[in-house]
Amino acid sequence: MITSLQYVALGIPDLKVGVDFYDAFGLAATERPDHVAMRCPGRDQDQIVLVETGQNRKLHHFSLGTDDAGLAAIAQRLQAKGIEQLDPPYAGAPGGIWFRDPEGTLVNVQVCDPAPWQGVDAAPAINRPGVIARSGDKGCPPFGLSPRPRRMGHFILFARNVIAQSAFYCDTLGFIVSDRITDGYAAFMRLPGDSDHHVLAMLKSDAPGFHHASFEMANIDEAEVAAVRLYNQGYKHAWGPGRHGVGSNYFHYFRDPWNGMAEYFYDMDYIPASFQWEAKEWTKKDGMFLWSADGPPPPDCGRNYEID
Ligand SMILES: [Fe+2]
Repeated sequence: MITSLQYVALGIPDLKVGVDFYDAFGLAATERPDHVAMRCPGRDQDQIVLVETGQNRKLHHFSLGTDDAGLAAIAQRLQAKGIEQLDPPYAGAPGGIWFRDPEGTLVNVQVCDPAPWQGVDAAPAINRPGVIARSGDKGCPPFGLSPRPRRMGHFILFARNVIAQSAFYCDTLGFIVSDRITDGYAAFMRLPGDSDHHVLAMLKSDAPGFHHASFEMANIDEAEVAAVRLYNQGYKHAWGPGRHGVGSNYFHYFRDPWNGMAEYFYDMDYIPASFQWEAKEWTKKDGMFLWSADGPPPPDCGRNYEID
């Protein structure tokens, strides 16, 4: 039923601090009366919405896309569960359905076509042992580029009860669990139909909240050149570069200004609707990473800074 991620809205203490961070990250700001929308340049879709609340950063709401039939089906399922529809949180918020999930997070489902993914002209040819794909040509990209994220690929939320929350999102909105981490630590969900391995995941905590959003780069060079741009503007590295077990993507995480995280990714597993993917239970260690340049994740990687 859900056909796309639209955006994640964060309530933050100071708009300028948030806009400066996501600008350095590579997104572009559009100012509106009640919020600032951060978009991937060249792509017509809000990805991070910043709402100034004057309080500690907290997940404000998030928005998902569907079609007319999907919206009607979701409305019916919410009604069957006794979940009431709510008013939008501010005047410029999208239409569609607004409701709170079982842990209290405000969710919007709107009718909209997913914005097309931004592709790349040609994949860089990579030489491998015994396989020369690039000969007589340089592999290093041009100097001086300032790479921009192509799209938000996924976001991860905290949940008190990972199993119950993921079951709710599957039963009500049509998500499918691709993989889990043992002991109810995490559940990774994809869209119905062809999808990245995960577009939404739940991570165990004592309260709901926002863990990170992840943005696709064209290749590992773009991800790391963008990472250097963040270093050079004084933002703090959090974890990586490395390669996740769950979803297989290369990752590099930075701290947002409120101790949370923002991720660049490249080369995520993709699951076509026709493929019989078997959900697996991963250990925490293997699920989180095969390797990372700086070793295991930081000790507070799973800390929910939204808990006062
Ligand atoms: Fe991620």
